[in-house]
Amino acid sequence: MSAPTVIPEIVAAALDLSRQRGFITSTRNETGRLLATLAASRTGTLGELGTGCGVGSAWLSTGAAKGARIVSAELDPALAEVVQKLFANVDNVEVTSGDWSTLEKYAPFSLLFVDVRDVKRSVDIVADLMEPGGIAVLDDFTPSEFWPPIFEGRVDTIREEWLTDERFTAAEMLIDAGTSVIIATRR
Ligand SMILES: C[S@@+](CC[C@H](N)C(=O)[O-])C[C@H]1O[C@@H](n2cnc3c(N)ncnc32)[C@H](O)[C@@H]1O
Repeated sequence: MSAPTVIPEIVAAALDLSRQRGFITSTRNETGRLLATLAASRTGTLGELGTGCGVGSAWLSTGAAKGARIVSAELDPALAEVVQKLFANVDNVEVTSGDWSTLEKYAPFSLLFVDVRDVKRSVDIVADLMEPGGIAVLDDFTPSEFWPPIFEGRVDTIREEWLTDERFTAAEMLIDAGTSVIIATRR
């Protein structure tokens, strides 16, 4: 897909950290650009569940409107500490060390990047965290040509639930031929 080759400085720093730590599950640039684009339409509080090395937060921070803030939670305390240092001079990002649920106190979210597997599996949890009109982004799906969606020979009930739950209006978008994201807007 066509995209500028220049990466924002804070995203490049987070990607460097991922490389140094051998952390292979960082958000890819295509998804990051989508996060930044969505962030630019939001006000209030944006969140991320599962900070990793900070790549998603970095993209969100580059897109976020003035006055909006990003809070992100990372379960691994050592990783959270390193990423807190990475964002020390970035005003609109706060990284907390702990389970994703430590962010419940910041709800409702206008945008939430759900990057913790167990939470991704629970539409109920995410529905309770969102403001009306808030957008949830879930990545790392494998595109399926069928309905209901099939993954590894079985119906992908999680994706089926996300795309049919009446609390959200949702769509699956291709990131590339082998990867998709779900964008779900809270009614
Ligand atoms: C896929 S990685 C996150 C990648 C990151 N969002 C990015 O944009 O590059 C998932 C992260 O979630 C963290 N994690 C796992 N369970 C968690 C939980 N219950 N609460 C918060 N973070 C969790 C893992 O330690 C890991 O760093």
